[in-house]
Amino acid sequence: MRVLGIEPSCDETGLAVYDTRHGLLAQRVYSQIALHAAYGGVVPELASRDHVRKAVPLLRQTLAEAGLDLTEVDGIAYTAGPGLVGALLVGAALARALAWGLGIPAVEVHHMEGHLLAPLMAPDAPKPPFVALLVSGGHTQLMLVDGIGRYRLLGQTLDDAAGEAFDKTAKLMGLPYPGGPNLARLAELGDPQRHRFPRPMLDRPGLDFSFSGLKTQVLLAWRDSDQGAQARADIARGFEEAVVDTLAAKCERALRQTRCRRLVVSGGVGANRRLRLRLEAMAQAQRWQLAFPPPELCTDNGAMIAFAGALRLAAGQRSDGPLTVRARWEMGSLQPVMESRDSGFGIRDS
Ligand code: KG4
Ligand code: ZN
Repeated sequence: MRVLGIEPSCDETGLAVYDTRHGLLAQRVYSQIALHAAYGGVVPELASRDHVRKAVPLLRQTLAEAGLDLTEVDGIAYTAGPGLVGALLVGAALARALAWGLGIPAVEVHHMEGHLLAPLMAPDAPKPPFVALLVSGGHTQLMLVDGIGRYRLLGQTLDDAAGEAFDKTAKLMGLPYPGGPNLARLAELGDPQRHRFPRPMLDRPGLDFSFSGLKTQVLLAWRDSDQGAQARADIARGFEEAVVDTLAAKCERALRQTRCRRLVVSGGVGANRRLRLRLEAMAQAQRWQLAFPPPELCTDNGAMIAFAGALRLAAGQRSDGPLTVRARWEMGSLQPVMESRDSGFGIRDS
C-alpha cells in the first residue's frame, strides 16, 4: 500500500509517499523560515496562505521523485491537529478532495502521533511497550506506549515546551528565528562551565517538566553580561546543558518507574546533537534500547504522517465524515490500532 502524507500544521509544508512494502519512497519539506523571519515568529495567516501556494507544487515534486502517478497512490494521510487551524485546513481540504476524486480512503493523523511513530520507520525499531519522549515546539511529554494508539501520559511540561524554551531564549538574546537550531549551533562555541543554570523540577518527584524559570535565569544572566558574542555563546551552552540534563534525568526516571528498557525520542528538539549524545551515552551505560529518527525526520515532515496514516489505513481506519481539524487534541483519546500481524509494528509487508 502506498500512502501519501500531507503535513502543514505550522510553518513547514511536508509531503511524502510511504510504501508499506518498500518504506519511504520520497519526501519533500518546504520551510517558511524566510517568510516569517522578519516577524521573529510564525504569523498564522501568512503560514496558511503559503501552504496554499506550496502544497500542490510539492505534491507534484514528491510524486515525480517517487516515480509515481497520483492514480498509483492507495490512501491519503493528513494532519488533523494539533496545530494552526488555518494551516491544518489547507492540508485537510487537499487530502480529502484528492481522496474523493481518486476514490481512495483518507485518514486523519495526530501530529504528535506522527512524531512519536517516526522512529519506528527504521527496520530495527523497538517494539512496544516503550517510553517515548516527545519534544517539539508545542509539546514536551513522556508517554508510555503500549501499542499504536495506546498512549499513557506519564508527565508533561507545566509551562513552556522544550522547543519553545529554546526559541524564547534565542529571541531574548537577539538570535534570529528559528531560535532553537540557531541557539544550538551557537552553544557549540560556548564554555559549559561558565553558567550553571538550575535543572528545573529535578528535586521533586514525578515526571513533569517546567522551563519558564530557566528562561528567567537566562534573562538575568544575559542582562548581567557584556552581551558580546562569547557571553551569548556561553549562556546558550549553559541553557542547553540545563535542558539536556533535565530531559535525560526525566527519561531515566520514566524508564525506572515503568520498568521499561526501551526509549524512543522524537519531535524537533530530538534533532539536538547534545541531547542525542547524552541519551546515547546513557543508553549504552544502562543497556537500554534507544531510537531516534534521523534529524530531518525529527522536525516536521510529511513522512511521519504518511507512516502513521499507513498503520491506521492498514487497520481499516478511515476519515470520511465531516472535515474537522483541531488546534488542540489529546493523544490519549486516539483510537487504538489493532495489529493484524503478531510482529509488533511490522508494517512493512515482506
Ligand atoms: O517538531 P517541530 O518541527 O515542530 C513542532 O511540532 O513544534 O519542532 C520545532 C521545535 C522548535 O521549537 C525548534 O526550535 C526546535 O524544535 N528545534 C531544536 C533543534 N531543531 C529544532 N531545538 C534545539 N536544538 C535543535 N537542533
Ligand atoms: Zn511537530
